[in-house]
Amino acid sequence: MANTAKPDLRPANPRFSSGPCAKRPGWTLDALGDAALGRSHRAKVGKSKLQQAIDDTRSVLGVPADYRIGIVPASDTGAVEMAMWSLLGARGTDVVAWESFGSGWVTDAVKQLKLEDVRVLEAPYGEIVDLAEVDFDRDVVFTWNGTTSGVRMPDGDAIPADRQGLTICDATSAAFAQDLPFDKLDVVTFSWQKVLGGEAAHGMLILSPRAVERLKSYKPAWPLPKIFRLTSGGKLIEGIFKGETINTPSMLCVEDYLDALAWAKSIGGLKGLKARADGNLGVIERFVEAHDWLGFLAKTPETRSNTSVCLQFTDPAIVALSDEAQAAFAKGVVATLEKEGVALDIGAYRDAPPGLRIWAGATVEASDLEALMPWLEWAFEAQKSELKQAA
Ligand SMILES: Cc1ncc(COP(=O)(O)O)c(C=O)c1O
Repeated sequence: MANTAKPDLRPANPRFSSGPCAKRPGWTLDALGDAALGRSHRAKVGKSKLQQAIDDTRSVLGVPADYRIGIVPASDTGAVEMAMWSLLGARGTDVVAWESFGSGWVTDAVKQLKLEDVRVLEAPYGEIVDLAEVDFDRDVVFTWNGTTSGVRMPDGDAIPADRQGLTICDATSAAFAQDLPFDKLDVVTFSWQKVLGGEAAHGMLILSPRAVERLKSYKPAWPLPKIFRLTSGGKLIEGIFKGETINTPSMLCVEDYLDALAWAKSIGGLKGLKARADGNLGVIERFVEAHDWLGFLAKTPETRSNTSVCLQFTDPAIVALSDEAQAAFAKGVVATLEKEGVALDIGAYRDAPPGLRIWAGATVEASDLEALMPWLEWAFEAQKSELKQAA
């Protein structure tokens, strides 16, 4: 039996998944009542909603007026791969990775695109690559917030303003929670399903004037499928950045994104969103500081994510277990919490070290995280006493 009593209070919303993430507080299906369903996305009503999604994205994220914003197919993955396939190969490339999504872009560059001049810079889970090693006169592909390790870029200071290469940044679990220095970023991508708690399947692609210049002046050696094509006859397809999507979007998802953006504005825009995520991280930090059996996977506080918070069991009795037994222990804790209905989907990502991953982005309520914390201790103690009994 556990030493710790079962807590009385339960989170009102047990959804702490790292994607799709919790809907905004107060969301119901009624929020989608105004969706342009059964209408063409090329009709005035459909196109104006797509344009609105672009405009609101610009105003909430503070995207510079001369950067283009497009809605593209296949969620964040679609947006990143579209950028990689369209832009890379013109000069040498550095691909930087410190967790599994970054590693996915390494695979794309090395094994799929088979780039001739590519350097791979990698760091293990919990750490970040030495950014001084990155050559920004080459093109650089990286992830701002590593969702599976909870390690984020501390800031954009390592990126020179006068770089020669393009920076291609997968910002899907950072956008709307962390500052993105657009002057240092040439391509920024994200999906609606993450920090704003929207729906998946649509990607956002933000391009700097320098990225557009590259698109106009460089033609990759490999074929580009229609859903990756941003140019036609050497000219940028400007319509993509005015709501004329390459193929058919879901107007239901568009409506949901518009609702999420309206909520974001109502809580003070990016400042309000960041404050909520920072406050949520603070709840977890205070709990971790007070409990020596739990620790952050991120080695240094300045790289600690305020969205995908990854935790490890640091109790010596657990650390002493084999990798398999540690993974089984963590799974046991996660399953216990899920069975109680107090936390859904908070297991570490399948390739990451065993532990917990708790989403702390803006749509999560601090009060729900406060309510969850004592449950972590209860489930940990319960799992530990099971271990003892089995020994
Ligand atoms: C950093 C990062 N990149 C890419 C993806 C893939 O996103 P999507 O499934 O929206 O394509 C995710 C999803 O969790 C992610 O966290």
